[in-house]
Amino acid sequence: MSVKRTVYIKTYGCQMNVYDSDRMTDALAPAGYVPTDTLETADLVLLNTCHIREKAAEKVYSELGRLRVLKEARAEAGRPMQVGVAGCVAQAEGAEIAARAPVVDLVVGPQTYHRLPDYLDRARRGERVVETEFAPEEKFEQLPAPTTERTIARGVTAFLTIQEGCDKFCSFCVVPYTRGSEISRPVAQIIAEAERLAGAGVREVTLLGQNVNAFHGEGPDGRAWGLGRLVSRLAEIPGLDRLRYTTSHPRDMDDDLIAAHRDLPQLMPYLHLPVQSGSDRILAAMNRRHTAEDYVRLIERIRAARPDIALSSDFIVGFPGETDADFEATLRLVETIGYVAAFSFKYSARAGTPAADREGQIAEAVKAERLERLQGILAEQTRAFNARTVGLTIPVLIEKSGRRPGQVAGRSPWLQAVHLDADTKLIGEIVDVTITGLATMSLSGVRAGTEPNRSGLAS
Ligand code: SAH
Ligand code: SF4
Ligand code: F3S
Repeated sequence: MSVKRTVYIKTYGCQMNVYDSDRMTDALAPAGYVPTDTLETADLVLLNTCHIREKAAEKVYSELGRLRVLKEARAEAGRPMQVGVAGCVAQAEGAEIAARAPVVDLVVGPQTYHRLPDYLDRARRGERVVETEFAPEEKFEQLPAPTTERTIARGVTAFLTIQEGCDKFCSFCVVPYTRGSEISRPVAQIIAEAERLAGAGVREVTLLGQNVNAFHGEGPDGRAWGLGRLVSRLAEIPGLDRLRYTTSHPRDMDDDLIAAHRDLPQLMPYLHLPVQSGSDRILAAMNRRHTAEDYVRLIERIRAARPDIALSSDFIVGFPGETDADFEATLRLVETIGYVAAFSFKYSARAGTPAADREGQIAEAVKAERLERLQGILAEQTRAFNARTVGLTIPVLIEKSGRRPGQVAGRSPWLQAVHLDADTKLIGEIVDVTITGLATMSLSGVRAGTEPNRSGLAS
């Protein structure tokens, strides 16, 4: 019998880290670890970290500072605590973390989580373990499916990693170094996991990958499958009524995938397709390997296939060498496309990436000013899109209880949060909701057919 211990995992960064944190919970279960929501009493605290921008990485060190105090107090009380750093900071900085933060017992990169029980044994014997080997095939092989009740289905929506790593080497980005080269999970494993999720009551699955549409694998028919084929197959699974994927790269949007948007009602009309900049000069310097015009044409093809598709993107302002004219080109592209949502960031120089040492680094104040202008326009586009849905009746997947008693919360096909008064027994159902109002972050609505009778004044 193994000793029962508790583990608290704090997750930073992208959805893949959210998925991986659950996989770590699964990997630790056979070694007797049960998840806890109380950090103060946990036997093991794992930080699943993100290295994408300087701020993200710095958060880890401030958290480690707080943990040092807690760990010392716990040691004095005779209840020792182990601290581990996982994720992309672990991969990027490895032994440096252990040197900079003595509180850390274990540093583990994203590719060997399946070996966690072994690493922790070693750490308990006094070793400071630093493991940053790239072993993606082994990871997919040995972290096959969610095992604990808590990680099979947290609710009616779930993430499912189908691809990891990136070979694109955008000149600003750490991901190819922290996640390694592109690798796809075997098709059979993905189908099995999706079936299991559906069996556990999941209605919506978001397929994850750093470059999700670079997914490729051998299908059960012996043919080469891309994301379009995979999505078509997953759409056959009973109960999986909604499919999404993120994050995709414009260069990997192939005809099959665009056709899937046309043909599959299960594939939600929403696409996160980061463009980063609207200036060809900057796009080239970023090594994105397409022009603004290519992107606009691509969006036209996607919209022709699925006219109601909503688009979102990521943007970087203040990339080295970005002039006012380059930035204006980004604003023009935003006006041309019309986004429903977007993430935008000030360029953050990351050690080891090609752009970090380039000339023409942009002053912080200029970056801040550009970011504010861009975000103002994007926020207005989001507001205008949400306003256009007021009065429409749309299918909403009810996901959880709302903030108030008697209220539930769900999502529209376009990923908008929707609140309405309804019974929590509707959680997991897709119901028609008439959108009646607009708040900053969400829409409110009423179940279709239950609109209050407003005709009372009419004769
Ligand atoms: N694989 C995805 C993006 C992963 S990172 C893609 O190719 O689109 C998420 C976003 O973070 C990126 O789209 C980019 O906008 C931003 N980002 C990445 N590196 C950055 C950096 N050094 N500075 C600022 N933003 C960055
Ligand atoms: Fe980073 Fe570019 Fe790869 Fe996206 S495609 S993960 S931005 S290198
Ligand atoms: Fe961050 Fe790594 Fe994801 S750097 S965005 S956690 S792939």
